[in-house]
Amino acid sequence: MAKADLLIVHAAELATMRGPAAPRRGKEQADLGLIPDGAVAVVDGRVAAVGATDAVTAEYKVTKSNLIDAGGKLVTPGLVDAHTHLIFAGSREDEFERRLLGASYMEIANAGGGILSTVDRVRAASRTELVKLARPRARAMLEHGTTTAEVKSGYGLTLEDEIKCLEAVRELAKAERLDLIPTFMGAHEVPREYASRRHEYIDLVVKEMIPEVSKRRLARFCDVFCEVGVFSIDQSRAILEAGKAAGLQPKIHAEEFKSIGSAELAAEIGAVSADHLMLISDRGIRSLRRTATIAVLLPGTTYFLGGTMYAPARKLIEEGVPVALGTDFNPGSCMTLNMQAILSLACAQLKMTPAEALVAATINAAHACGAAEFVGSLEPGKRADLLVWTAPSARYACYQFGVNQVETVVKAGKVVGE
Ligand code: NIG
Ligand code: FE
Repeated sequence: MAKADLLIVHAAELATMRGPAAPRRGKEQADLGLIPDGAVAVVDGRVAAVGATDAVTAEYKVTKSNLIDAGGKLVTPGLVDAHTHLIFAGSREDEFERRLLGASYMEIANAGGGILSTVDRVRAASRTELVKLARPRARAMLEHGTTTAEVKSGYGLTLEDEIKCLEAVRELAKAERLDLIPTFMGAHEVPREYASRRHEYIDLVVKEMIPEVSKRRLARFCDVFCEVGVFSIDQSRAILEAGKAAGLQPKIHAEEFKSIGSAELAAEIGAVSADHLMLISDRGIRSLRRTATIAVLLPGTTYFLGGTMYAPARKLIEEGVPVALGTDFNPGSCMTLNMQAILSLACAQLKMTPAEALVAATINAAHACGAAEFVGSLEPGKRADLLVWTAPSARYACYQFGVNQVETVVKAGKVVGE
């Protein structure tokens, strides 16, 4: 009999998310790879076996110390947050209140608030301070079931400050247990000192920041805020092409406040993901249909901004575009780090089914982060990142909201908190 370091047995629902090595689209978006009375055996931090409890325990020795009884509970892979701005300083609750009184996100941004006010705070902070601020956030993410997250820079907007933020991501990943995947987003906004010569800032991003970030291997992706008044389609294309040439895969903040054809740009450029998409047009949806681009939907942002325009998740799924989810965690447009809140919104507002939402928050989000080889599903060889929920089923996990339903987090085979 083989020896397992950890055995999770008798899960009422074991949602493995197993399947082909590609993002789930169309009907597959709802395929949880469900095993009733399921078990997972973990050896050396990886999944060694997945199956019915009888079958797995016939192969792996059960001892008192290696056992978690998940009787009556849901077990899933760890959640993957496909879109965060986790590295920031300061907070913007004042803007939140101004919006409640009628100001819009873009009005506040144009009046000198918004992203640029966080940029001031981040520039004034040291790398060590940024890491210190992010550590409790990272821990809270893990406690709420997020075991892998993508993290963007984009509040530095100088070469030194962007590098400082990406180094902070690296340091944070060493200090905390969740996996972090860095994205360079020097094109998050044009800083004030370039307001009258915006093209020079784009030159700086293209000619100095991208080469340096790439040389130092500080990021895997390059992202752009493609939006009216921020970066145009042509500017975004130039930045993403430069990133691509330097080995940074493209991602794009697309169709968030205005519909301008940024989804079409995502398709044209072969973006790994097109994120937000609240205002994507039918043409935009059609352009994504036969591509590898994943739609990363961020319903927390619409909710937090008090909006009514949620991304058309149903249409995207029906047209066969793979959908992933993320928090968009940031101090301005979505102040939550909790992927369970996003699952609830995905169901209640995007009208995704619980199964579709959980697939979007695990295997599809892993694909959107370029991490699906290692995480996102419970299959032999993958990292043993998994959750035991208090909820008995996938349906229940998305049905109850506002409380933490994750009881035990296992990261790389080790129970978090032990
Ligand atoms: O994804 N859209 C641009 N960036 C963020 C907002 C950042 C901020 O307001 O600080 C977003 O919504
Ligand atoms: Fe964002």
